[in-house]
Amino acid sequence: HQPRVAPKKDKDFIKKMRNTDKNVVLFYGSQTGTAEDYASRLAKEGLQRFGLKTMTVDVEDCDMTLLDKFPEDCLAFFLMATYGEGEPTDDAVEFWELINSDNPEFSEGMPIEEKPLSKLRYVVFALGNKTYEHFNAVGRLVDSKLTEFGATRIGERGEGDDDGSLEEDFLGWKEEMWKVACDAMDIDPNEAQTQTGAHVAVYKITELENYEVDSDSVFYGELSENALKVGTRVTYDAKNPYPSPITASRELFSSTDRNCVHMELDIAGSGLYYQSGDHVAVWPMNPEQEVYRLLKVLGLWEKKDTIIKVESTDPTASKKYPFPVPTTYATIFRNYLDIHAPASRQFIATLANYAPTEEGKSRLTTLGQDKEAYKVEVADAHLTLGEVLELISSSSNGKLIESIPLDLIIETLPRLQCRYYSISSTSKVTPTSIHITASVLRYQPSKSPEKTVYGLATNYIHQVHRKLNNIAHPDTSPYYLYSGPRDKYYDESTNAVKFAIHVRNTNFKLPKNLKVPVVMVGPGTGVAPFRGFVIERARYKSEGDEVGDTVLFFGCRKRNEDFLYANEFGELFTTLGESGKLFTAFSREQDQKVYVQHRLLENQQYIWELIYTRGGYFYVCGDAKNMARDVNNVLSQIAQACGGMDENSAIAYVKDLRSRGRYQEDVWS
Ligand code: 2AM
Repeated sequence: HQPRVAPKKDKDFIKKMRNTDKNVVLFYGSQTGTAEDYASRLAKEGLQRFGLKTMTVDVEDCDMTLLDKFPEDCLAFFLMATYGEGEPTDDAVEFWELINSDNPEFSEGMPIEEKPLSKLRYVVFALGNKTYEHFNAVGRLVDSKLTEFGATRIGERGEGDDDGSLEEDFLGWKEEMWKVACDAMDIDPNEAQTQTGAHVAVYKITELENYEVDSDSVFYGELSENALKVGTRVTYDAKNPYPSPITASRELFSSTDRNCVHMELDIAGSGLYYQSGDHVAVWPMNPEQEVYRLLKVLGLWEKKDTIIKVESTDPTASKKYPFPVPTTYATIFRNYLDIHAPASRQFIATLANYAPTEEGKSRLTTLGQDKEAYKVEVADAHLTLGEVLELISSSSNGKLIESIPLDLIIETLPRLQCRYYSISSTSKVTPTSIHITASVLRYQPSKSPEKTVYGLATNYIHQVHRKLNNIAHPDTSPYYLYSGPRDKYYDESTNAVKFAIHVRNTNFKLPKNLKVPVVMVGPGTGVAPFRGFVIERARYKSEGDEVGDTVLFFGCRKRNEDFLYANEFGELFTTLGESGKLFTAFSREQDQKVYVQHRLLENQQYIWELIYTRGGYFYVCGDAKNMARDVNNVLSQIAQACGGMDENSAIAYVKDLRSRGRYQEDVWS
């Protein structure tokens, strides 16, 4: 056998700049695609408005030790997202290590004191979420390190907060930035041939006749070419998710407005491996009514199954295709583009150019320019692109908006992303089965109570659950799922559904030493990873191992309503015996709210003994914004009350626990 070696990517971006005559490089570190999207938008704007010769690249695809060779008359952009607890995105790990090392090896090997990056001029925009403690840690540190190594920042560092409005932060920052950037590049922004308004296509779309394509090579939602190859050995990861069979699916509770689904995914034979505390990524599909809406309003419904090819018009683009091709119009909207998120303000402003009537145009212009109107009518009401277009069409005597170039939509809409769930099983007991505990997100926007907003992935999971269990689709829900003849994830004859998944390893882990006590705080679906932890500890215990205290704080509304895994926990804690304790906080069984943090305070002596005296680990999972913050504060209160510390030392103590990995969080906002 000849071992097949993947061709090594040429990571020499300096060479690429020279060969393709570029003077602005936009480096990005992106987890869910936003930083990448911002890089592309800036690249296009720089080119069209100011004639800058731009290119975007994932830092992962660059040999960043070459930064010291960056030409003096060029400009580098860094669009860096921060992930989780101040961590770099997966694609930026190598760059992060380089820039954080004591003496980073830039290609000339020049010591740091000699400022190896003194020729480099750069612009930086940091993306993050203020709910997390290390807000924008990655963007900020990249900025300060580059400066430390002698590089010069152009303009102010931009900072985007996903908890507020990332998009508005970005739009607000970039205008001022362009002025300074133009100045640095010796361009007069007023004289530059601005082409705003005139659309320049980034992608070319070609319709193909059926006889022109091998039908097995058409992509219907798969993310990688490997997925189409039969019989080849492949590795499953974020770029090539595993089609995992679902072996069990049940509702942990269901009421008129809330549901929670437990699912078991079979990973036997996939080569996937996980540990309790890891995340599983599920790649959802868009709901079919949104797919239909968009195809209809764009006048593409008749052609929905036509096979098309979409490719970049720029031969030097780092991404030749926006998603796997050939594919079909319907698949693009169903599987590759995020058509379910609220339409962005900037996009709405652009769409005004294509409105079929003056009324439609003025409506779009208002929504695109008036931030408040946009917030109330589009963002909060969760109006999708399809819904915005429908609105315009109906205020334009029902005229469709067929003149919008499809390539503009492809370029502008974000890619459909996977969603991460904390795995609720443990590989110690079920190594080939990954369990998910997902509560189904549905709500009425406060200003548009007549509308129900559906969370994309959890409703996808819920629909799959219904299908597997032959539960009829409720008339009240417009959220339904595609299952057509080409649906590789659904086998009609056996009614078997598969999920596209991959595993993301985390640092959220039980202590290696079984005797170390653990305190876990997980209200609601925050209990998911702790189910895995408790199952694991109970198994060791039943095998005769000595297991330290295993203490869980769980909270929900009412014990008879949404107490997840109540019976199962009952049995597990029986197995754990004396060393296991379950504390519950039922918030709505009495007039006063009772939360997990109240229970922590009530048991403060015990907590203090486990954490301080016996060196235990403390874990929090669930809502980042309120719960996790409150719990953090309660622990420092306990340190004051039981450890005799003053406020500052108590805060420092909790911080220190975190930095030693003895206070771990798996939180989301
Ligand atoms: P509530 O909805 O009755 O306010 C799981 O969602 C549980 O977490 C529910 O009982 C919920 O109570 C509770 N909860 C809400 N806000 C919280 C907070 N800030 N801290 C801890 N628990 C909270």
